[in-house]
Amino acid sequence: MISETPRLLVVDDEEIALSNLKHVLNKEGYEITASQSGQRALQLLEEKIFDLILTDLKMEKVDGMQILKRARELYPDTEVIMITGYATVDSAIEAMKAGAYHYIAKPYKLDEVRKVVREALEKTRLKRENSRLREHLKVFQGEARLITDNPAMKKLLETAGQVATSDSNVVICGESGTGKELLARFVHACSNRHSGPLLSVNCGAFQEELLANELFGHEKGAFTGAGEMKKGLVEMADGGTLFLDEITEMSLAMQVKLLRVIQEREVLRLGSAKPVKVDVRFIAATNRNLQEEVKLGHFRQDLFFRINVVALKIPPLAERKDDIPLLIHHFIKKYGMMMHKEVRDIAPEVVDILLQYDFPGNVRELENIIERGVALANGDTIEPVHLPEDLRGHCLQTFRKKSGIIPTLEDQEKAYIEWVLQECGGNKTMAAQYLGIDRVSLWRKIKKYEIE
Ligand SMILES: Nc1ncnc2c1ncn2[C@@H]1O[C@H](COP(=O)(O)OP(=O)(O)OP(=O)(O)O)[C@@H](O)[C@H]1O
Ligand SMILES: [Mg+2]
Repeated sequence: MISETPRLLVVDDEEIALSNLKHVLNKEGYEITASQSGQRALQLLEEKIFDLILTDLKMEKVDGMQILKRARELYPDTEVIMITGYATVDSAIEAMKAGAYHYIAKPYKLDEVRKVVREALEKTRLKRENSRLREHLKVFQGEARLITDNPAMKKLLETAGQVATSDSNVVICGESGTGKELLARFVHACSNRHSGPLLSVNCGAFQEELLANELFGHEKGAFTGAGEMKKGLVEMADGGTLFLDEITEMSLAMQVKLLRVIQEREVLRLGSAKPVKVDVRFIAATNRNLQEEVKLGHFRQDLFFRINVVALKIPPLAERKDDIPLLIHHFIKKYGMMMHKEVRDIAPEVVDILLQYDFPGNVRELENIIERGVALANGDTIEPVHLPEDLRGHCLQTFRKKSGIIPTLEDQEKAYIEWVLQECGGNKTMAAQYLGIDRVSLWRKIKKYEIE
């Protein structure tokens, strides 16, 4: 998206013309970076993202055409307006062919400049908006697709989509298997960095030195065995996102190093004294309460503030059971396709069992259950027998009490007595006769089953 104050790069080797343009456009409320040389302008293009470029065509050494070409390579949706002296109109037409948005011939009317600038910015805004929408669409159809129908989750996704376009660091909390990594992918895919890399590292999977090496890389000869220079993940994620999974597993010493990288926006390879500039967004995940970890002294408060700019908390699956049927069907489709099986359905009893279960392993556990079910199903339906045995056992306990399906003998007896009593209009003597027991036995059972 275009920054709230559009950023313009204005290039002209004539000092007066340059300061004139700068003055006029400044008054329009744009943020102007002015450059009197083409060379410097090329450098600026590498350093900053502009929403629009106005450049003089004829300049010494690096001319407007070169700036146009480089801008087209780096930022295809940033428009370039050429300013040309009278004699160079022919080359201005060349510039248009090479992709310039417009050309303005000197001497120009200020109104014309204002109008062309406004229109060019509007065009860029629309282009960016379109490509953002296309990306969103891809996200919703693609890999980072989070299935949900739950209001709290939908709200969370909305927030995630909003923070995605800001560059803030994000912490995602949630129990194991709730979809933290998937949400991180979603945030990356919705961000302006979506065409950059998304790399991830599990901070709990490495010893301290190995993690440092993994994150920051090393120079050739930094330690025995370091035969080649190796870039770390932070450096490789430049222009993109680095997902730090299980961030609380990081030692306090490593946390200091990471804090430095985030603050200084630069990384130091092991064995090097020369920092490398990096532009990375960090998304951290944890299944613990990060604030609690800070209180306990396991997690540095300064790092907490740096990464916890936005916190996204994913509720456990047990708190959003309305998502279970949707997820079931999503996974049936997924694994049916993967295993080339025509499984399309799931028996209602299976859904009931799954709805009773509290899923300590959250969505991942549900996914595994369905994967197994699809693998075992021999027709087109997943039946109770395709569920893991302990799950069937665990659920039947709660299940038969609640739903009355597969009732116990006692449940049956109670229901039968109730029915007979009702049929006899509450007459216990008649009911006892029908039931083939004496009145005292019936009375005991009525008391036992708390029949009204
Ligand atoms: N809402 C969802 N829609 C579709 N698939 C989901 C959803 N949530 C989770 N999953 C799937 O469940 C599995 C676990 O998700 P993920 O790895 O993102 O969880 P996690 O919170 O990072 O787990 P852990 O804490 O164990 O690392 C993945 O296969 C993921 O694709
Ligand atoms: Mg994970």
